[in-house]
Amino acid sequence: MDFRQYLAGQQKRVDAELDRLVPPETAPPETIHRAMRYSLFAGGKRIRPLLCLEAARCVAGPAEGAVAAACSLELIHTYSLIHDDLPALDNDDYRRGKLTCHKMFGEAMAILAGDALLTLAFRVLATLDGVSDQARVRMIAELSEASGTAGGMIGGQVADLEGEGRPPTAALLESIHRAKTGALLRASVRLGAIHGGADAGQYQALSAYGEHIGLAFQIVDDVLDVEQSSEALGKTAGKDAQQRKITFPAVYGLAESKRMARQEWEKAGQALDGFGERAQRLRELAELIVSRTA
Ligand code: IPE
Ligand code: IPE
Ligand code: MG
Ligand code: MG
Ligand code: MG
Repeated sequence: MDFRQYLAGQQKRVDAELDRLVPPETAPPETIHRAMRYSLFAGGKRIRPLLCLEAARCVAGPAEGAVAAACSLELIHTYSLIHDDLPALDNDDYRRGKLTCHKMFGEAMAILAGDALLTLAFRVLATLDGVSDQARVRMIAELSEASGTAGGMIGGQVADLEGEGRPPTAALLESIHRAKTGALLRASVRLGAIHGGADAGQYQALSAYGEHIGLAFQIVDDVLDVEQSSEALGKTAGKDAQQRKITFPAVYGLAESKRMARQEWEKAGQALDGFGERAQRLRELAELIVSRTA
């Protein structure tokens, strides 16, 4: 099966599971379920769940049971985007080609929809079938750390906001990006690794892959913010310069940023050497991350 077909199939699988996990729009209180579903089914690429499923497959073969775990990552990711777009944070009107959650449902409901997706993510992991209690607890701890304050997503968001308008240094830049985006991407492969029963060596190798693609991902996000149109991105382009964010293009320029993304991609590929053919889809996902145009 070619990669495009594979991608579409896996995205469908993730969407079906998300649909099963989130209460229907008709369940009271209807407004919050509508807001959660509005953002969740707005057309995200589902990169994090796909990374989780592929990491699980890499260590354990066909990963049927991993799809709910994979969805916990998309629930956290979508919550983070809803809050990232709020007027108090990046103040964005468009996301995934549609009006942002707060533009559609108001700020209060967008805050609560984010909270609700975050909370649901941990329920999903706590009630996972087909894994040991020990694996379940490790996955919960991993997701919590990656989303949290010390070196995690929220910590990165804090540094990103506090960095606005400050002199963009290379060290601050890397620490922001590793935390705000890299941590959740690394957690995506780690959850898959734990679900699949990875040994210590496999876990380390997949973590290294996750770190490199995590950094590459946010470098590319910064480059696209400069080079792409809002239509292509489905979110407002040019926001980073406007808000004087600390980004890769701001510190290194566009050409060097692209070279660095490629370099991270190469290192990600090397981290998978021990898996041979089994890691083919992870290699293709890494390629997608660095060569994407949206
Ligand atoms: C965008 O993430 C926000 C960042 C973390 C940089 P994605 O590019 O994965 O967004 P969706 O999920 O496809 O909309
Ligand atoms: C967001 O980074 C990272 C999150 C944790 C949500 P950005 O602020 O660069 O994401 P976009 O460009 O708005 O998607
Ligand atoms: Mg932001
Ligand atoms: Mg933003
Ligand atoms: Mg961005």
